[in-house]
Amino acid sequence: MSDKDDFFVIKAEEDGVNVIGLTRGTDTRFHHSEKLDTGEVMIAQFTEHTSAVKVRGKALIQTSHGEVKTEE
Ligand code: TRP
Repeated sequence: MSDKDDFFVIKAEEDGVNVIGLTRGTDTRFHHSEKLDTGEVMIAQFTEHTSAVKVRGKALIQTSHGEVKTEE
C-alpha cells in the first residue's frame, strides 16, 4: 500500500457539501462529484485515478497529515 492509497475522511457540516475528485496525470480535471448532507461522512482514498480532492462547503476533513475544516 503506497502513500497514494491513504484514506481520508470528510464529514459534512452543512447540507450540499461537494467532494470533487480530480484526475491524476498531466490532465487535471474533475472526474467525480459527491454531494453530502449534514452529518454524512465519506471515506475515500487517493488512487491511480484520483490525485487531488476539492471540498466545497462546510466540512471537517481528516487525513494522515492532520485535520482541517473548510471555512464558510
Ligand atoms: N473511481 C474513483 C477512483 O478510483 C473513485 C474515487 C476514489 C474518488 N477516491 C475518490 C472520487 C475521491 C472522488 C473523490 O479514483
